Amino acid sequence: MFKNASEASQVVATEIATLVRERASAGKPCVLGLATGSTPMGVYRELIRMHRDENLSLRNVVTFNLDEYFPMAPDAAQSYVRFMNENLFDHVDVLSENVHIPDGTIAEESVGKFCDDYESKIAAAGGIDLQLLGIGRTGHIGFNEPRSDADTVTRMVVLNSVTRNDAAENFDGLENVPHHAVTMGVQTILNAQRIRLMAYGEHKSAIVERTVCGDITESIPATFLQQHGDVRFLMDDAAASKLN
Ligand code: F6R
Repeated sequence: MFKNASEASQVVATEIATLVRERASAGKPCVLGLATGSTPMGVYRELIRMHRDENLSLRNVVTFNLDEYFPMAPDAAQSYVRFMNENLFDHVDVLSENVHIPDGTIAEESVGKFCDDYESKIAAAGGIDLQLLGIGRTGHIGFNEPRSDADTVTRMVVLNSVTRNDAAENFDGLENVPHHAVTMGVQTILNAQRIRLMAYGEHKSAIVERTVCGDITESIPATFLQQHGDVRFLMDDAAASKLN
């Protein structure tokens, strides 16, 4: 538990930097699973600072983002491609050919093949070394909403109404929020070597409590994380306030 998001973000960014440097000195790539939204922004800010001030290079980093709204143009204000460029990629030396984000522009009939290819690319990269996660108030990780089982892989999903409501402000109204998204599955996430879930703020406290203390159930997909051998939940006091 941390006093605030910035302390927790620093811990996660330091762990990532250490892993990236270890792999680089062994001449190996480091495969990161990345999230968007407000939660990981402090981690990205800290990685950018380390790149600028402490010689951290991300040239050996391969990234796979969790999800993208569907449909979604990459240059739209709410696009996760744009989010990642503005909040991380434009400010560090990651190679553009090493960046992977689900494509919100593909024809609907091609989504299945795109998702299969996304899984193959993760496997070909050697699997995800460290997966960053936020959590939605529905208990979603990625966009794996309630009723996403532990064996789900990358696919198109229908967004929960709570999730769409939470996104409404960003989209200037609920009517503009897409009904669908492409997301890595719960199994894709659980296959990562390490998982670091961050949660900040009182509004996350109820779902954090159910995720950490509740029974494992597909009605709260984040509870599947309890089965993972190297997961850490990093939260501030407010998000942890219902844990005793
Ligand atoms: C984003 C993602 C989502 C968010 C979650 C929390 O790529 O996969 O699961 O992590 O909705 O969003 P914030 O951080 O905005 O509260």
